[in-house]
Amino acid sequence: MPKLIVVNRNGDEAVVEVESGLTVMEAIRDNGFDELLALCGGCCSCATCHVHVDPAFLDQLPTMSEDEDDLLESSDHRAPNSRLSCQLPFTDQLDGLKVTIAPED
Ligand code: FES
Repeated sequence: MPKLIVVNRNGDEAVVEVESGLTVMEAIRDNGFDELLALCGGCCSCATCHVHVDPAFLDQLPTMSEDEDDLLESSDHRAPNSRLSCQLPFTDQLDGLKVTIAPED
């Protein structure tokens, strides 16, 4: 199974194996990272699934929707590599993707 590397807010790194069909948010949440709240359950309306993505993978991710862009704009921790993890289906080609959970707003 493809692997996702997750860095939590303390800087600790963990590798999780991701079943196909999950989003990055679901993979993080299902592996016990409580700090990723994902309050809206993935319908792109809360921004509590904000992550910073390894810049090497940015061009392999789906294009950002206007809704995602607007939500990220409301975060104090937006960076050029910010994404909402619920909007990122984890495909095989993302094997080795590293994401850092963004600080809480
Ligand atoms: S889980 Fe709410 S926007 Fe991603």
